[in-house]
Amino acid sequence: MLLNCIRLFVCVLCVSYYTQFCGCQLINFRDYDTACGAESIECLRRGIRTFFFLMDSEYLGMNAIDPIILNSLTVALPDEQLSFLLRRVNVTGARWTKLAERKFNLPGGKNGVKFVSDLHVTGELTMMMSTRIDPFFAQITMDIQDVESNITYTWAGQRGFDNEDYILIGPERVAVRNARTPSFFLQTNNDEDARTMEQVLQTRSSILDHLSNEITISVMHSIVDNFRLFASKVPVKNYYKYAESN
Ligand SMILES: *[C@@H]1O[C@H](CO)[C@@H](O)[C@H](O)[C@H]1NC(C)=O
Ligand SMILES: *[C@@H]1O[C@H](CO)[C@@H](O)[C@H](O)[C@H]1NC(C)=O
Repeated sequence: MLLNCIRLFVCVLCVSYYTQFCGCQLINFRDYDTACGAESIECLRRGIRTFFFLMDSEYLGMNAIDPIILNSLTVALPDEQLSFLLRRVNVTGARWTKLAERKFNLPGGKNGVKFVSDLHVTGELTMMMSTRIDPFFAQITMDIQDVESNITYTWAGQRGFDNEDYILIGPERVAVRNARTPSFFLQTNNDEDARTMEQVLQTRSSILDHLSNEITISVMHSIVDNFRLFASKVPVKNYYKYAESN
């Protein structure tokens, strides 16, 4: 039964899958020249590469993710009466996200994927302190390196009104971990303000960690939204080669 077959997918968020159970030997991402066995992480990586380029060309109405502009972010340290607002957040580098690991059949029938990214961020940072009425303001540049995103999601196969089979990707959960605190650079007209902000950021690395985690999580949700859109518009048969049901 085809849908049962789909259920066993080993699917890189719909780029490739493989299952022995249904006699499906190879996956054929037909139009894009990709065919991998599930164990072939190198092959899956090439599939992901292709997919990221499709996203960036806004194929089928997907949203480009590099650069990606995010809503404003805030971080507050109430104990210290300190808060930060990051606006006009422009993130580049997501296109080169690497596939680190692929997990199938996690508890609850979920699938999982681990990505590693290097992201470059620019934005306008405002810092508010209880000891001063005027906020501090600077342009910030941040480099987030080797940040790991652990994405898990549910999925199901479904037959559409057109009698074609599609994959539905359910809600995802994203957990991120950065290997090191991001490096940053501030630019402002007021050197003294810049020094004060720099000092605060250097002595409280949790602020940068928090900003970088929020940014990474947003980027990952955007990526999964694109996979979801793709999977809802393109019948499975167009990107997977599977055994005929009988
Ligand atoms: C975001 O940054 C990139 C690279 O610096 C730049 O090319 C692009 O124009 C920026 N986008 C916006 C909306 O500022
Ligand atoms: C990734 O997330 C899944 C589900 O939340 C969890 O089971 C797994 O241990 C996580 N892996 C890592 C490396 O964090």
